[in-house]
Amino acid sequence: MSVTVYVPCDTTALAMGADAVADTTRQAANQRGVELNLVRNGSRGLFWLEPLVEVATPNGRLAYGPVKAADVDSLIDAGLFEGKTDHPLALGPTDDIPYLKNQQRLTFSRIGVTDPLSIDDYRAHRGFAGLEKALNLDGQAIVDAVKASGLRGRGGAAFPTGIKWQTVHDEPAGQKYIVCNADEGDSGTFADRLVMECDPYLLIEGMTLAGLAVGADQGYVYLRSEYPVAHRIFSEALARAYDAGYLGRDIRGSGRHFDLEVRLGAGAYICGEETSLLDSLEGKRGMVRAKPPLPAIKGLFGKPTVVNNVLSLAAVPFILDQGAQAYADYGMGKSRGTLPLQLAGNVKRGGLVELAFGITLRELMEDFGGGTLTGRPLKAVQVGGPLGAYLPQSQWDTPIDYEAFAAFGGVVGHGGVVMFDDTVDMGEQARFAMEFCSVESCGKCTPCRIGAVRGVEVIDRLRAGENVETNRELLADLCDTMVDGSLCAMGGMTPFPVQSVMKHFPDELTHRPT
Ligand SMILES: Cc1cc2nc3c(=O)[nH]c(=O)nc-3n(C[C@H](O)[C@H](O)[C@H](O)COP(=O)(O)O)c2cc1C
Ligand code: SF4
Repeated sequence: MSVTVYVPCDTTALAMGADAVADTTRQAANQRGVELNLVRNGSRGLFWLEPLVEVATPNGRLAYGPVKAADVDSLIDAGLFEGKTDHPLALGPTDDIPYLKNQQRLTFSRIGVTDPLSIDDYRAHRGFAGLEKALNLDGQAIVDAVKASGLRGRGGAAFPTGIKWQTVHDEPAGQKYIVCNADEGDSGTFADRLVMECDPYLLIEGMTLAGLAVGADQGYVYLRSEYPVAHRIFSEALARAYDAGYLGRDIRGSGRHFDLEVRLGAGAYICGEETSLLDSLEGKRGMVRAKPPLPAIKGLFGKPTVVNNVLSLAAVPFILDQGAQAYADYGMGKSRGTLPLQLAGNVKRGGLVELAFGITLRELMEDFGGGTLTGRPLKAVQVGGPLGAYLPQSQWDTPIDYEAFAAFGGVVGHGGVVMFDDTVDMGEQARFAMEFCSVESCGKCTPCRIGAVRGVEVIDRLRAGENVETNRELLADLCDTMVDGSLCAMGGMTPFPVQSVMKHFPDELTHRPT
C-alpha cells in the first residue's frame, strides 16, 4: 500500500510541532509496512489547525488538525492512511473547510497545495505560465498589463505598481534594479513569509517579470533576519531555479537575463521604509532618504530601482498568466484584485484570508475569525500595522478598500488585522504607539525623533491625571506637528493610533478601564 501524506514545513506549523508529527508518521508507516510519500507542503494558512495534516485520496485531499505527534498512532488506527474520517481531528475534505472554501485565492492559490521546493509541482499548478508568456513580450507590454490590472502596492502606501514600473522602464537603458521588500515589520502580518516559505517560485517569477518589464537584470530580496525558515527555503528555491534555467543568463533559452540574490536585514522596523531599506542594502545604517529623487529614478546605488512588497510582486504572475482583466474583475472602486488579509491578535481562528477588496472588517473578524479567542466582546481592531488607527465598533462595517479606509483616517496597509477584546487598555495602546516610534525612529528629523519621546511623556502625565485638559491639547498639537512635519510615514503616521484613541476612547487616556 502506498499513501501520500502532507505535513507543512513553514514556521507556524514548525512552531506547533510539525517536524515531530512528520517523524512520527514516517516511523509509524515503517512499522506498519506502509509505503509513505511524505510531502512537506506549506501551510494552508489556517493557523489554529496547525499542524494541519492531509492525506491524498482518489476523491481529493482530507484534512486532520491540529495534529500532535501523540495523535499520530490513533489517527492511523482510525484509518488515516485509508482516508477514513472517523476521528475527532478529522476535518473532511480540505477544500470544503469554510475558512478556505469562502476565500478568493489568486496569489495564494498554490499555498499549502504544493511542495514549495518542487519546480515540477509549481509548473503543474500554472507556475511560470505568466513568465513563459512574458518572455515573448516587450517590457512595455508587461508594464501595460500590470497597469491595466489596477494592482496597487501591498506594502503600505498602495501606490499603483504599473505606474512605478513605467517610471523605471522609461529611464534610459543601463543598470536598473528590482528590490523586493520582504522586511514585513507590521504587527500581525505574515503573508510575505508564507509566500517565501510556501510558494517561493512565485516570488522568483514575479521579480523576474518585473525585471523583464523595466529592463533590470539584477534583483535583491531584502528579507528580515527574523525569518530563518523563509531564508532557508527561499535560498534553496533560488538555487533550484538557477539549475532549471529560470534565473540567470538566457532564461529558458530566451536570450533574457535576470539574477536574483537575498540579503538579510538586521531587525530595524524603519528598514522596511523603502529608502532606508536601500541604504541598508548598500551596507549603510538604514536612514530615510529625502524624496525626491524617487527610488524609481535614483534608487539602489543611485540607479533606477523598482521597490515592491512581496505581495505586489507575487500578484503579477497571475496577471500575466490569466490576463489583467481577470485580476481587475475582483475588488471595488480603485482597489482592484484581492488582498491577502492576516488575522491576528485576540482571534479564535487566526490565519491568512485572501479576498477581493470590499469585504467588511466585521465579516472578516466574525465569519472568518470567529470572534475573540477569549470569547469576550471585541473592542477595537488595528489594521495596517503599528501605525494604523484603532478602529472602534462603529467602523467595522466599512468595506476594506483603500479609499473607504482613508476617508476616516484608517489605513489598509499590508492587510494585518489585529483584534483586541474588551480588556484592552486603549490609553496603554496609545502610549505604545509613541514608545514604538521613539525606539524605531531613524532619528533623521526632529518631529519624529523628539516628538515621539515627548509623546510618551505627555501620555504618562495624562495617565497620572496631571493637568488633563492642557496635556490633551498638547498631545493633539504634538500629533499635528508629527503628521505635518515628519520626513517619512514613520513619524507621519505614528499619531494615527494615538488620535484614534483620543477620538474614540477619550476616557481611557486618563483612566484605565475597570
Ligand atoms: C516605517 C515604515 C515601514 C515600512 N515597512 C514596510 C515593510 O516592512 N514591508 C513593505 O513592503 N513596505 C514597508 N513600508 C512601505 C515601503 O516604504 C514602500 O512603500 C513599499 O516597499 C513599496 O512597495 P509596494 O508599492 O509594492 O507596496 C514601510 C514604510 C514605512 C514608512
Ligand atoms: S519620520 Fe522618523 S523615521 Fe522618518 S525620517 Fe524622520 S526621524 Fe526618520
